[in-house]
Amino acid sequence: MTTAKDQATTATTDAGIPVESQEYSLTVGANGPLLLQDHYLIEQMANFNRERIPERQPHAKGSGAFGRFEVTQDVSRYTKAAVFQPGEVTEGAIRFSTVAGERGSPDTWRDPRGFSLKLYTREGNWDMVGNNTPVFFVRDPMKFQNFIRSQKRLARNGLRDHDMQWDFWTLSPESKHQVTWLMGDRGIPETWRHMNGYSSHTYMWVNAQGEEFWVKYHFISDQGVKCMTQDEADAMCGKDNDYHQRDLYESIERGEFPSWTLKVQIMPFEDAKTYRFNPFDLTKVWPHSDYPLQEVGRLTLDTNPVDYHTQIEQLAFEPNNQPPGTGLSPDKMLLARGFSYADAHRARLGVNYKEIPVNAPKVPTAAYTFAGAHRTQNALDPVYAPNSKGSPQVPQGHVEQPPTWYADGDIQRAAYVKHPEDSDEIQARTMMMEVWNDEERERFIGNVSGHLAGGVGDDVLQRAFEYWRSIDQGVGERIEAKVRELTGKVLSQS
Ligand code: HEM
Repeated sequence: MTTAKDQATTATTDAGIPVESQEYSLTVGANGPLLLQDHYLIEQMANFNRERIPERQPHAKGSGAFGRFEVTQDVSRYTKAAVFQPGEVTEGAIRFSTVAGERGSPDTWRDPRGFSLKLYTREGNWDMVGNNTPVFFVRDPMKFQNFIRSQKRLARNGLRDHDMQWDFWTLSPESKHQVTWLMGDRGIPETWRHMNGYSSHTYMWVNAQGEEFWVKYHFISDQGVKCMTQDEADAMCGKDNDYHQRDLYESIERGEFPSWTLKVQIMPFEDAKTYRFNPFDLTKVWPHSDYPLQEVGRLTLDTNPVDYHTQIEQLAFEPNNQPPGTGLSPDKMLLARGFSYADAHRARLGVNYKEIPVNAPKVPTAAYTFAGAHRTQNALDPVYAPNSKGSPQVPQGHVEQPPTWYADGDIQRAAYVKHPEDSDEIQARTMMMEVWNDEERERFIGNVSGHLAGGVGDDVLQRAFEYWRSIDQGVGERIEAKVRELTGKVLSQS
């Protein structure tokens, strides 16, 4: 991308007027004082003071790139979405991130990684705002804000605090699967190129006949999955805080373009009602033996940003961007996210954030929003609908039904209705005891114990031992013994 600055030979003010000097401010006599009419100096100072915009609340540290998604398999029997039709190629933007850290924080802290994708499809933007983990810590949006606060910093001194993290986790048993995942090898990826991206949530697909399916998206790294040990990550924190960001940028500069194969799990609509556990519970995966992975296409990143601020910092994803043939699901977390992201963008970037080029769809828009701060697109009359002036509008009386499911019941605050095998422990135990080998389990025990030994108070520690014993008695005991060894603490047996 070239800018006017590439072509110009003389520096100008923002108004395009040639600059008199970039060395000397305007003064009365060589020794000053300064003059208020030095507009260029004031423009420079004023702009500098406003260069920073608020960082994202969670996921503040990250970076991204651009590329394309190409459909390689025919999944048209499940979705009519243009972006997933055979042979379709769609340009896209991606951003990777950590969750808890601030904008300058180290890339190699143990944390889930964001995997946010925006595809500029022929039917408007499709956004998948996922993570490198297929599950999450909580299943009700009421707990999300508090969860994030517990991972950030103490109010009194601005310090990160393991006690606060474990306090929240051990009082939230639904976190067991995700915390097990986080404390295992995959809790610190070697690079963003070497991790998978998951929708985590269940979404909906609708085909041309109007049949509905439940779908989970898996972007599988073609580079393979590679991870860092805690020691390697700790060493990297002191060496290069931006290790993952640098790796992505430099690999694309070298012409090594990372790619991911999109695979989906498809569940027939009716299965969800009687499946052995709640398929909309974000703390669960669907076993591949029940719903195997089916290939859809390939995402390749081949273009770096040229301006981090305009293209990455102002990049705004929103899970509610679901073109025809795609949709949300009854997952309460996902439905809350359908509101939260656009609201965050209005607060962080302004009401017209979708006019920022990186967020704008590549199809023409014909929306009845207009004006507001920083609006640049000219509005045309009439600015209301319905109208009789020939402006784009939905034909009167026509209603397009969205992807849908049946909902009924008294208005209430309640947990999901239980399915027979709903459990906070089963899938965590399967990963810990069946998927991992002895070495992986050993490293997991070391990671958990090291974390618990880092400033967690006795009462929370006791709950943490119980948390792990409830998944596997033996692993819980080994964690307790290791924490005692590391801290020299003699804790009362629970
Ligand atoms: C970022 C809210 C759950 C992945 C954010 C942001 C908010 C938010 C407000 C900052 C957005 C911005 O300023 O640009 C929520 C709420 C959740 C939730 C209310 C649950 C009720 C999740 C889950 C995932 C996720 C389950 C992953 C499956 C992300 C990612 C970003 C993000 C990847 C960074 C987006 C980017 O790269 O710009 N979230 N979140 N969030 N969230 Fe969530």
